[in-house]
Amino acid sequence: MMEGPTRPLLIAAALAFGLAAYRRFSTPDRARALAAFSTVQQVFQHPRCQNCHIPGDAPLQFDAGLPHAMAVARGPAGRGAPGLPCATCHGESNPPASYGPHAPPGAPHWGLPSPEHKMAWIGLSPGALCETIKDKQRNGGRDFAALITHVSEDKLVLWGWNPGGERSPVSVPHDEFVARFKEWAAAGGPCPSD
Ligand code: HEC
Ligand code: HEC
Repeated sequence: MMEGPTRPLLIAAALAFGLAAYRRFSTPDRARALAAFSTVQQVFQHPRCQNCHIPGDAPLQFDAGLPHAMAVARGPAGRGAPGLPCATCHGESNPPASYGPHAPPGAPHWGLPSPEHKMAWIGLSPGALCETIKDKQRNGGRDFAALITHVSEDKLVLWGWNPGGERSPVSVPHDEFVARFKEWAAAGGPCPSD
């Protein structure tokens, strides 16, 4: 039974497991997860993301977050008002550079989150942003796994790194953003206390 080399191996395994559990909740790991979250925050509050994740009913434009021209509105499903859907101007991909820097950019399913789960990030403190991202009432019912899939693959998210025209892309590389998001989620998604 537990003789010879088996017993010390079991003890070593138990110790390793205990150490892993301890490290998971220890202060240095929490500090690392909070540092990872600050990279996540930088991305969520970049103009390329927050111009669509707005508290009101009209998207914003440019790095300064000015109201979108032509009185464009969210509409019942986020795809624009019945008479003026986003797709009137925004296609499935960015137009060729020859259309000029102010042509409407594009990506599949261009639109705003629906009025029922609009989730605004503009001006939130790190702690409030963190709670908002995790809140299933406000994030379309997504758990961490679904959020990770969304930030890794969603076409509107990816557009933030290929925004067309002279718009500046999100300032953190996409793979680094996803790695930091996963690191933060793996630690249970701790939030800064501000
Ligand atoms: C063109 C508008 C647009 C842009 C730009 C955009 N999003 Fe979104 N985002 C949406 C829409 C629409 C949804 C809702 C999609 C759904 O529920 O299937 C959404 C949903 C999300 C969600 C899920 C939580 C929620 O509120 O539903 C996250 C997380 C998210 N976006 C992150 C980002 C990040 C990060 C960026 C920038 C890199 C970004 N988005 C850029 C329109 C946009
Ligand atoms: C009548 C045409 C038109 C309609 C309809 C329209 N847009 Fe736009 N949109 C534009 C143009 C043109 C630009 C580029 C403006 C520029 O760069 O000068 C733009 C730019 C944007 C941007 C880029 C913002 C940035 O980061 O600088 C977003 C986001 C956006 N629109 C969202 C939407 C959404 C969401 C809808 C539907 C609710 C919509 N637009 C409907 C013409 C339109």
